[in-house]
Amino acid sequence: MTIYSRITGTGSFLPPRRVTNAEMVSALATQGIETSDEWIVERTGIRARHFADADVFSSDMALKASNLALKAAGIGVKDIDLIIVATSTPDMVFPSTACMLQGKLGHHGAPAFDVQAVCGGFIYALTVADAMIQSGSAKKALVVGAEVFSRLLDFKDRSTCVLFGDGAGAVVLEASSTPGILATDLHADGQYARILCVPGHVSGGQAQGDAFLHMDGQAVFKLAVKVLDETAHAVLAKAGKPSSDIDWLIPHQANIRIMQSTARKLKIPMDKVIVTVDQHGNTSAASVPLALDAAVRSGRAKPGQTLLLEAVGGGFTWGAVLLNL
Ligand code: UT7
Repeated sequence: MTIYSRITGTGSFLPPRRVTNAEMVSALATQGIETSDEWIVERTGIRARHFADADVFSSDMALKASNLALKAAGIGVKDIDLIIVATSTPDMVFPSTACMLQGKLGHHGAPAFDVQAVCGGFIYALTVADAMIQSGSAKKALVVGAEVFSRLLDFKDRSTCVLFGDGAGAVVLEASSTPGILATDLHADGQYARILCVPGHVSGGQAQGDAFLHMDGQAVFKLAVKVLDETAHAVLAKAGKPSSDIDWLIPHQANIRIMQSTARKLKIPMDKVIVTVDQHGNTSAASVPLALDAAVRSGRAKPGQTLLLEAVGGGFTWGAVLLNL
């Protein structure tokens, strides 16, 4: 019998501190950095983002999102036999944020590891979990995207500091006799490493080099539009489905203009696109599971519907997952 994987529960968490564009504009103005609500909304669609307090780490937010996903799936922590966390903002260099989460969940024994594919991370993590379930090596996986990107932001660089936010999203992915995940598509191209990176590293007891996020926004924009279109078509072709079968497009929430371009090319109207970038900003690996949970909990995404999840991020990494909810 073929084993498939299916999402049986979703959860998410946003830190309570909500920073509006107006607050960001006035905070930056005190440092002589000029920006405006109009510029941010027009160029990105972002109106607000959430920032975690200094004592909150990715695993703390992952824990809150995971508990909600487990509750939605109707299973307990002990039932989980695989934990994968997608993050580029781990609590520590090591152990992995997945192991930190496992400890906080009070779970023992199941494999737990991080996937580092920046904003593409949740799509990578979901694909790995799907493959492990299909192979029979896991039956009930917790797959999480959690980020504190605010820690990487240079608040003297207006071209990046207005874009990102913090948060976490989680799903429970279970073995099933019916699909579930219909097809996955993953890619990377390391030649683009420098257009979106945090080039610092830890050495000699401290951070060495530049530990702020750097992005060539226009280069990332152009590449993102291209590869998101390619991966969407690739995952549909693998599943043998037309784009008209998609009930909801849940793209990485980086920029509303990129999302509009993807939807236009797929001939999907914007009212079938889940948009959270306006309220969350870009939460990197957390953005897709946060948007998915918003879609499920608002009652828009319903059991049986077809969802296309896709993302692109530093590396460059990109990919898509087509699934039946
Ligand atoms: O999560 C991974 C994927 N990431 C992305 O997908 C991000 C992709 N890139 C983007 O979303 C866009 O490129 C940005 C939103 C980052 C920038 O938008 P843009 O339309 O490409 O603007 P730009 O970089 O071409 O800058 C246009 C102007 C520049 O001024 P000049 O040179 O024309 O005078 C910038 O200095 O806007 C200026 N600018 C700002 N002005 C006000 C840049 N940032 C700001 C700002 N406020 N915050």
